[in-house]
Amino acid sequence: MDVRLEAEQTLRDLGVDAEIVEVGCIGPCYLEPLLDIKLPGKPRVSYSNQDPRRTRFLLEKVFQGGEWPERDLVGHFGEEGAMNGMPRFHDHPMLKPQVRLVLRNCGVIDPTDLDHYLARDGYRALERALAGKPEDVLETVKASGLRGRGGAGFPTWMKWNFCRQAGDGQKYMICNADEGDPGAFMNRSLIEGDPHAVLEGLVLAAYTIGASQAYIYIRAEYPLAIQRLEEAIGQMREIGVLGENILGSGFSLDITIKEGAGAFVCGEETALIASIEGKRGMPSSRPPFPAQSGLHGRPTIINNVETLGTLPNIIRNGAEWYTRYGVDTSRGTKTFALAGKVRRTGLIEVPLGTKLRTIIEEIGGGTQKPFKAVQTGGPSGGCLSAEFLDTPITYENLAQAGSIMGSGGLIVLDEDTCVVDLAKYFLRFTQSESCGKCVPCRVGTRHLYNILDRITCGEGEPDDIRKLETLGEVIRGASLCGLGQTAPNPVLSTLKYFRNEYLAHVQEKRCPAAVCRDLVIYRVIPGKCTGCQSCVRVCPTGAITGPRSEPHNIDEEKCIKCRACYEICRFDAIAGDAIVITS
Ligand SMILES: Cc1cc2nc3c(=O)[nH]c(=O)nc-3n(C[C@H](O)[C@H](O)[C@H](O)COP(=O)(O)O)c2cc1C
Repeated sequence: MDVRLEAEQTLRDLGVDAEIVEVGCIGPCYLEPLLDIKLPGKPRVSYSNQDPRRTRFLLEKVFQGGEWPERDLVGHFGEEGAMNGMPRFHDHPMLKPQVRLVLRNCGVIDPTDLDHYLARDGYRALERALAGKPEDVLETVKASGLRGRGGAGFPTWMKWNFCRQAGDGQKYMICNADEGDPGAFMNRSLIEGDPHAVLEGLVLAAYTIGASQAYIYIRAEYPLAIQRLEEAIGQMREIGVLGENILGSGFSLDITIKEGAGAFVCGEETALIASIEGKRGMPSSRPPFPAQSGLHGRPTIINNVETLGTLPNIIRNGAEWYTRYGVDTSRGTKTFALAGKVRRTGLIEVPLGTKLRTIIEEIGGGTQKPFKAVQTGGPSGGCLSAEFLDTPITYENLAQAGSIMGSGGLIVLDEDTCVVDLAKYFLRFTQSESCGKCVPCRVGTRHLYNILDRITCGEGEPDDIRKLETLGEVIRGASLCGLGQTAPNPVLSTLKYFRNEYLAHVQEKRCPAAVCRDLVIYRVIPGKCTGCQSCVRVCPTGAITGPRSEPHNIDEEKCIKCRACYEICRFDAIAGDAIVITS
């Protein structure tokens, strides 16, 4: 916001008449805040890492000096060679391997301006669909090979067909915008950046299954996304793509936004339905599946935000066009939230079948320290080791490796990550998000967490690894819903690929990554310590002593392993790394 205010002020000071347009997330989060400038007749040019001072400098250079400074320049959005040797934005290494289909408007259009969406062929797909029959849409979606992007990867057309065959009468269409995986922000970004694409997809889906009422179930922690949806729904009514007799077709639909309290389990279909019905968000056993008996006992389809956001593209461009992207039974593109220890983090979209290595090394720019693993699919997913880097990402390949696609969280880990600690982190999440209805999940995840906690505290027992495996399998097989069924995945996958690390914790009481607090000690390397006293000043327990300009000493008895000395020493240009954590 400071950048925007400074841009407005600078433009006023310079007497420049310019319109400021806010767009959604374009992807490279690590470069934010971005500021783009577009002069008449020239392509848009993007600059990164803005702060008020840089923004003023940049605008003065461009508007007063007629120059495009090189500092912070990302690139332009025009044709090759359009800006005299300046690189193209999409040639940036983070962007180049990507294919942006569902995200095509994100960061490009003003999400609050319906005309921007219409100018990019918005609602053309709906027009086309309404000119034909619902069966035509179903056939196109079937031929496209689209599978649900919410995690399970169920063929979208098949689920719709169950619902169509479930008789006439009231049916419901629901958009699942409950995204709750730690580290995931794909669905939120799509709604914030291009709400009409999701809404057009929702109308298309409702038309196909014959629903006259649709809901968007979205967590209340997403206020901007909710605001964008509300604005967009109002605009839809104005141009007649929502409400009674849409575009004169005889098809009518209403959309209601339902805010959820932000419980992870409410992303599960039956819990989500209970929540909309005003009950506690708890899952129920299936069958019957919602496609037969869902909201208020009526046939209901629930689709993920990205699944719906993809539909307008498929209907507008045809199934054949869509199947050009992706491989075998995993067609099209998939968005991922790339996070963790990669150099370039952000929102990305790649064709399915892309190798993990391409995502991590080319798009993400690799890791600073040696790569260790990647967690795909969030808390329901698994942790894959380096041997999977050349595995093409498909639903089947990930499942075979003991992980899942999930909704698209990708957390990259380097050698500074302890996998036991990581598994514990995800278990703490699933354990606290368990709704408590079924015993395997409620009690089982707590036991799993307790064992992991013991191991990371150096109190692991020889039998613990076997217990983790047995308990994990039981929870997986006996839990009522997907939350419990997938909760052991982070533990089981790390046990499979990083067993030695568990053994080191249990048998040697050692944490190879030097992360687990109770298993590490802090030491000063005398040859590196300049005696600058920074660590002495930050140590809360007085454990570090020593006169100025002489190597310091850490008293192990007093050290509470708070990391304060380690962190501050790293930022000391002279002494850097004089304090190390050893295992
Ligand atoms: C605990 C749990 C949480 C889930 N959270 C979400 C979610 O936030 N968003 C989502 O689309 N699907 C989520 N799912 C998957 C949905 O239940 C469902 O499979 C999906 O919405 C179906 O849409 P799709 O066919 O378009 O993928 C979750 C499943 C479970 C078991």
